Amino acid sequence: MRNYYIAGNWKMHKTRAEAAALAQALVSQLKKGKHKYLVAPSFTALETVASVLKGSPILLGAQNMAAAEQGAHTGEVSVLQLKDLGVQAVILGHSERRHSYHEDDELINKKVKLALQHGLEVILCVGELLSEREAGKAEGVCEIQTVRGLAGVAAGDLSRVSIAYEPVWAIGTGKTATPEDADAIHAAIRRVVARLYGGAAAEELLIQYGGSVKPDNAAQLMAKEHIDGALVGGAALSADTFVPIALFS
Ligand code: 13P
Repeated sequence: MRNYYIAGNWKMHKTRAEAAALAQALVSQLKKGKHKYLVAPSFTALETVASVLKGSPILLGAQNMAAAEQGAHTGEVSVLQLKDLGVQAVILGHSERRHSYHEDDELINKKVKLALQHGLEVILCVGELLSEREAGKAEGVCEIQTVRGLAGVAAGDLSRVSIAYEPVWAIGTGKTATPEDADAIHAAIRRVVARLYGGAAAEELLIQYGGSVKPDNAAQLMAKEHIDGALVGGAALSADTFVPIALFS
């Protein structure tokens, strides 16, 4: 039986004081939670949130990192700098990085391998555009992103990877994939991972759904066989909406 993994991606929101207040509320309100949790604040709030999360089981995640360990990369943040702040996991390949900042599978794969090499956990995001879904290509796009994102990842490192299926057309739009449609893509991703790493590893892989997850649709989504959690954007910005998602049973 797989655990559920519920993560909040705070995107480019919150000052340090706001981030600390939200983290504090989550630490106290998720004490009775039984699932795996992560919050991913902006880089500027990581140190502040790290100190609030100290001693709590909520993992600290970053929303991105550079593909190089260090060097002349103005404006980038390295894996070493993230680890120095206590970051335990990193979200990679988010659709906003793919589409607004033109990150391709090759770059994302470099980041995945670098993060794993340095002991971080990775949430690898995949997902199709609306035009791709309408053309019947959703499954194929997610398969390619999964295969390319995981290229060269050793079987022994796969336990530190989860995949988040985030259909681009569902992000921040209030449109959610139906639980059936999402589950079909999750099952396809699991089949790809089974082909690459074997059935046992694929059975253990956590696959989160992201895209307008709210308190009133989270339980229906996560009731599906292959949906093992959620990567939450807008509803993660307030304890009032994130906690009911995180405490679902
Ligand atoms: P929303 O929940 O705001 O649609 O965002 C989803 C997302 O992009 C999480 O990474």
